[in-house]
Amino acid sequence: MNKVRIGLIGCGTVGAGVIKILKNQSVLFKKKFNTEFSIVKICDLNPHIAQKLKINKHLFTKKSDDVLNDTSIDVVIELIGGIHPAKEIILKALKAKKHVITANKAVIAKHGTELFKEAIKQKRNIYFESSVSAGVPVINAINEGLSGNTFNGLYGIINGTSNFILSEMTQSQCTFKEALANAQKKGYAESNPTLDINGMDAAHKLAILVRLSINKTIALSNIHVEGITHISHEDIENAKELGLIIKPLAIAKKINKSVELRVHPTLIDKDHPLASVNGVFNAIFLQTDPLGDILLYGQGAGQMAAASGVISDLINLSTKGKNVSRIRMKNISFEDKSIRIQKIGEVETHFYIRFMAIDKPGVLSKITGILGKHGISIESVNQKIRKKSSAVPVIVLTHKAKEKKLRLALEEITKLSVVKSKPVAIRMESLL
Ligand code: HSE
Repeated sequence: MNKVRIGLIGCGTVGAGVIKILKNQSVLFKKKFNTEFSIVKICDLNPHIAQKLKINKHLFTKKSDDVLNDTSIDVVIELIGGIHPAKEIILKALKAKKHVITANKAVIAKHGTELFKEAIKQKRNIYFESSVSAGVPVINAINEGLSGNTFNGLYGIINGTSNFILSEMTQSQCTFKEALANAQKKGYAESNPTLDINGMDAAHKLAILVRLSINKTIALSNIHVEGITHISHEDIENAKELGLIIKPLAIAKKINKSVELRVHPTLIDKDHPLASVNGVFNAIFLQTDPLGDILLYGQGAGQMAAASGVISDLINLSTKGKNVSRIRMKNISFEDKSIRIQKIGEVETHFYIRFMAIDKPGVLSKITGILGKHGISIESVNQKIRKKSSAVPVIVLTHKAKEKKLRLALEEITKLSVVKSKPVAIRMESLL
């Protein structure tokens, strides 16, 4: 029987889920994988955790060094999240010749290169399936199942909280505030939900996916990030009328040797499979060669979803980790030096723009004139009727336009006295 001795650092929601699965499935894991997992030490600052989880209190400690210095431990599971002290804990664990499993997207996105290097040096593995889309096996799919493919495009709904909020706003007319409170109650949101709604959580995950699929190390500043806070019911309804839906997408689009990296609410066709990914569900749509398009779909946040990913890392480690560690870590560290990152100003997309303008002769021509002056070609214009209001919504859909040209045009249009508020611009992607 293969024995894996575990040290758990951080025993909050996900940690409790991991303990639950290890307890409930121990017989199955012994039979199926010939492996016995035992948790030898748990580090957490909450003094009530042992009682809450009904676990022997002697397993608990408040000092991470008690776990890191225990020579009987094979693998450290880091579930405290954030950068510090998670990074130091992971480095210490590797130096102490322990494998590491983490669900920490921030630390892998920011310090992955350094951590992978240390793992190679120590001949140990870092597994991080739950860092992206919880238990949906996207990391494993890219590293193993799709390893014979090149990746040309990645369109991911990879933040459960923002997808939950936009879905609630679309389907049940919920306000943004109500939907966020609900996501927090269900345990989907980060302890600081700002990272979910401002797009940074998805940016961390995108950086990890790009490292593995397009083989490029990404600084977070290379990603153009926009959150979902400016999305209103009005734009959601307008999108519906156009046969579109707004989804919080993380995008990596490879065109020849350059890659566009962006996280923003995006209008997509209501018939694309990503359009029906609702609630906390995540989906990653990959354009690969030679396989073609593939969609990975599943619950991307929540206690048991995240715990499931950690368990799959444990099983991977126990069944093949020790022998393949150097090869695996070298594969995931591979860098394609020929890829360059496209500046956001140069990116070309279709846009939906909503202007709030005075309803009088000549207004439309002023707006469209400025767009034309900046070389932005219009696909359609629709002025909506609105009673008892001094300004009316004018919806413009553009053909593909360069971002920097569009920004200049919007700046100029905003200054027009007939335009009453800052225009709302949402990028559109045609994926069908
Ligand atoms: N807060 C994250 C989300 C949890 O909403 O997707 C999973 O990383």
